[in-house]
Amino acid sequence: MTIQLGPMPDEQGYFGEYGGQIIPPELKAVMDEIDRAYEEIRKTEAFQKELAELHADYVGRPSPLFEARRLSDRLGGARIWLKREDLNHTGAHKINHCLGEALLAKHMGKTKVLAETGAGQHGVALATACALVGIECEIHMGEIDIEKEHPNVTKMKILGCNLVPVTRGTRTLKDAVDSAFEEYLRDPQNFFYAIGSVVGPHPFPKMVRDFQSIVGREAKRQFLEKNGRLPDVVMACVGGGSNAIGLFTDFLEEESVRIIGVEPAGRGLDTPDHAATLTKGVKGTIHGFKCYNLQDEKGNPLAVYSIASGLDYPGVGPQHCYLKDMERVEYVTATDDECLDAFLTLSRTEGIIPALESAHAVAHAMKLAKEMAPEQHILVNLSGRGDKDADFVAEKLEL
Ligand SMILES: Cc1ncc(COP(=O)(O)O)c(C=O)c1O
Repeated sequence: MTIQLGPMPDEQGYFGEYGGQIIPPELKAVMDEIDRAYEEIRKTEAFQKELAELHADYVGRPSPLFEARRLSDRLGGARIWLKREDLNHTGAHKINHCLGEALLAKHMGKTKVLAETGAGQHGVALATACALVGIECEIHMGEIDIEKEHPNVTKMKILGCNLVPVTRGTRTLKDAVDSAFEEYLRDPQNFFYAIGSVVGPHPFPKMVRDFQSIVGREAKRQFLEKNGRLPDVVMACVGGGSNAIGLFTDFLEEESVRIIGVEPAGRGLDTPDHAATLTKGVKGTIHGFKCYNLQDEKGNPLAVYSIASGLDYPGVGPQHCYLKDMERVEYVTATDDECLDAFLTLSRTEGIIPALESAHAVAHAMKLAKEMAPEQHILVNLSGRGDKDADFVAEKLEL
């Protein structure tokens, strides 16, 4: 039996009550133009061919599906499989939508692509895609993240993008979005804001999801080829939600598959230091769309926190909010400590150093696997590699 979800979003960009375009009319006109251009270009054979060639010859797709045997044996329960998005060119899933967005910007004749970045993965992927396509790129990044994610900062500079340090507010991801958005508003006709996740006003949650859904399409095919059946559970970490929705999309209508998104519980859900938006948030508006938000009584976004810079965002993709309310996807959390434990365990049992973001999903898979039977399977999206986090973790754990 399958679950019928219907087409999402609707014409106005709503997933149930979430999403939309909560923006001034001038900007709405620009977003509608992007939507029209996207809908037009995505159906053309030329665009599909160009993207497919880049996936194969530039990104290195399909990314492998790997059975983490030693890790699974050690846990003694379900088998854990890793979708190796960490092996993509630039080291994470972000390149999947950056290529699409850069090609679209070029097609629309835009003169500059700009964006925010947290962990620097989206920034590196976008700077890479812009270098490839031949379009100017500007990335806004919080000062704290610049310090923490140094290798990615260096790469962005080498790739020729203009890196703008954000010194206001929390000096992390949310303020980087605000800063990049302000720059975008200076000339939305000629600039293209390449949002780094399935967030922002319509059509971005839809468009980024579509570009990311290759992850789940491949993983489903690969898992079926290797096992002749579907996995019991699919799982991914959730910041804005792009790697998660990328994996989930092809499994949403498969009733036998349990789907789990893992949010960052930081220093604990009973402290202010977390970014578990779906778990602890309330309905509100942020960056031009409606979603669950971590906000104060006045509706201002809270200064959220996670050890993983790519997860500390006080909003979340509207489709995830909808999937939570209809109880199709379960959203759980992993703390910083659980994340660090998974980071080291995966590194030392499989020789794979995960991104701190992805380690949240690995942490929950490790917990759940022990409660499941050895003939059951958990498929985890390993959204990125941990090179960017290696020095930070080594220093923190005094390795
Ligand atoms: C490796 C990696 N995974 C996950 C994320 C979180 O983003 P999203 O929830 O959009 O996949 C990031 C963000 O920077 C990332 O770099």
